Amino acid sequence: MEEMHIIHDPVLPGQVLDGLALVPGGVYVDGTLGEGGHSRLILESEPACRVIAFDQDEAIIGIARRRLAPYGERFTAICSNFESMSEALLAGGVRAVNGILLDLGISSFHYEASGRGFSFQKSEPLDMRLGVTARVSASDVVNEYAEKELVRIFREYGEERYAGRIARAIVEARTREPIVTADRLAALISRAVPASYAHERIHPATRVFQAIRIEVNRELEVLEDVLGQTVDLLLPGGRLCVISFHSLEDRIVKHFMRDNEPHCICPPRAPRCTCGCPGRLRAVYRKALVADDEEVAKNPRSRSAKLRVAERIADGAAV
Ligand SMILES: C[S@@+](CC[C@H](N)C(=O)[O-])C[C@H]1O[C@@H](n2cnc3c(N)ncnc32)[C@H](O)[C@@H]1O
Repeated sequence: MEEMHIIHDPVLPGQVLDGLALVPGGVYVDGTLGEGGHSRLILESEPACRVIAFDQDEAIIGIARRRLAPYGERFTAICSNFESMSEALLAGGVRAVNGILLDLGISSFHYEASGRGFSFQKSEPLDMRLGVTARVSASDVVNEYAEKELVRIFREYGEERYAGRIARAIVEARTREPIVTADRLAALISRAVPASYAHERIHPATRVFQAIRIEVNRELEVLEDVLGQTVDLLLPGGRLCVISFHSLEDRIVKHFMRDNEPHCICPPRAPRCTCGCPGRLRAVYRKALVADDEEVAKNPRSRSAKLRVAERIADGAAV
């Protein structure tokens, strides 16, 4: 029987399975296990495959372990940041895999049940740490960072138009009393921005909450790190599938895949190409895949999901 708190529907399920192009007996890495939705799809779709999954959050990995226990030894969960992926796999004797999935960000569990201040509607402590490697909490960021650092983070990680006004309001408010709950921070942000902002599709605090979460969990840094590891881990023909939920992540994924595509490195004046166009990845789809209307209606979280898929090219293969 499903546990009551399992509320996270895996996004783009069909596209992920097509993208991974599962092979019998294949070994797959789910870098972002969450409640185990995608891992379960993989295990169900290819009965002879194995899934090794990572999540840095102890609370959610417990849910997934219980849920996927029926798959026995075909499923292994590792509680770790995916930035340690190569090292952790090697420690388990795994050098190469047939596919790697990253479904970035946080899960419905984090908003609904973690109690860590991810949702701006709740009076929860401002924490937002996903794993033990996070050095600062959301409260540390909000109450201790200098105003100009807050502006930078809100601009860079939130692409927030009113970064300066919001940072000023936070600094003024915290001199009177520390800002310790998510709903208080959200209310403060709402008051700091022009009233017209409240009529946008998203809550006025959305971008700032995203920015703080990225800072706390070093989300962009660890993404760049793990992408670099995936190329060495994939077997020739192996697939890398990455689902991102905002433009900062998607940009990193897109550039990474493009940078690893075969490209000519001959000198510009060379009469003909002799370099063999080295490359390690081939884009499987030219554009990112997105959810269709039916999925968005059923699972609103899928609205901003973008899936990019690349295939590992054999070293030295002719292109
Ligand atoms: C969007 S959810 C994954 C949902 C999952 N695909 C499913 O269908 O149930 C993302 C998960 O990745 C985890 N996560 C995010 N960043 C991580 C990282 N750097 N290392 C390991 N886990 C991470 C989060 O804790 C969260 O549980």
